[in-house]
Amino acid sequence: MINKLLGIKYPILQGGMANISTGSFASVVSNSGALGVIASGGMDKDTLRKEIRVCKSKTDGVFGVNLMLLHPQIDELAKIVIEEKVPVVTTGAGNPSKYIESWKKEGIKVVPVVPNSTLARRVEQYGADAVIAEGCESGGHIGPMTTMTIVSEVVQEVKIPVIAAGGMCNGKQMVAAEILGAQGMQMGTVFLATKECPIHENYRNAILKASSNNITVTGYSIGMPVRLIKNDMSRKYLAMERKGEDKMELEKFTLGSMKKAVLDGDTSNGSVMAGLVVGQINKISTVEETIERLMSEYYSEWEKIGEKYKTKRDENR
Ligand SMILES: Cc1cc2nc3c(=O)[nH]c(=O)nc-3n(C[C@H](O)[C@H](O)[C@H](O)COP(=O)(O)O)c2cc1C
Repeated sequence: MINKLLGIKYPILQGGMANISTGSFASVVSNSGALGVIASGGMDKDTLRKEIRVCKSKTDGVFGVNLMLLHPQIDELAKIVIEEKVPVVTTGAGNPSKYIESWKKEGIKVVPVVPNSTLARRVEQYGADAVIAEGCESGGHIGPMTTMTIVSEVVQEVKIPVIAAGGMCNGKQMVAAEILGAQGMQMGTVFLATKECPIHENYRNAILKASSNNITVTGYSIGMPVRLIKNDMSRKYLAMERKGEDKMELEKFTLGSMKKAVLDGDTSNGSVMAGLVVGQINKISTVEETIERLMSEYYSEWEKIGEKYKTKRDENR
């Protein structure tokens, strides 16, 4: 199980969320038995170092840092996780192969997020400890495959443990991921609906209110699809894409749009990233309650499966 590899109580990872998952938030998750992950997206190198120290001061548990490989200071961030003795590094938006050896030498567990099995095989060759196979049901930047297809394909292609991500907010979905061969589950959207999540109240309310019909994807035309809640910003962006606006113009339009939603609570003009599970989330809970609920549903679903199997076997005798 992934628990032993990462040193966590439950097989749950809180996915790194740019501009949201701070050191303090990650520590709350780690103190609740899952893996809290600080997101480097939206932070400069000094802020990342500061957030890692905040996290360490608030938990004795294992935590991780998510490094976005497109970050302009990525080489420096890759060194900071070594200097600060971060236990787990997850990576997003690219191929982290060139950093893996230096992290592994320092005892860091390396767990890249992969959108396909080609990258999964590549990072396994370079020594990754596990991979997170992320389906496009996820909030934020997405790849082309669904969780159902990517998890089973990656499990088939690599020997290292696979963690499923995308489209999970309850125990049934966790069991489904395990049946596909995943040994752990990474979730993001469900953690947005927690009391401790450092987002503006308007963002939290938008998560509660949204149904899956309110979700859309922008950025396909420039090869950078992002899943978010429909609003004025997404409608204008999609209209610009239909008109064939180039990458520079589109990027200019969304500059700072995530901070607008997360910090200012501008859910009309900001980027309210969220996954397709929003339609199943209708309550704000603490992080601890969320994790305890997930685990209790997970165990009870496995029990039900055991009972169903016993009944079926007895019927066929
Ligand atoms: C608001 C938001 C921001 C995200 N930012 C990042 C990020 O900075 N880096 C990353 O690797 N993944 C990012 N993700 C993806 C999550 O880490 C996680 O894999 C994903 O949310 C799982 O799918 P779910 O949203 O269906 O739970 C983000 C997701 C959300 C919802």
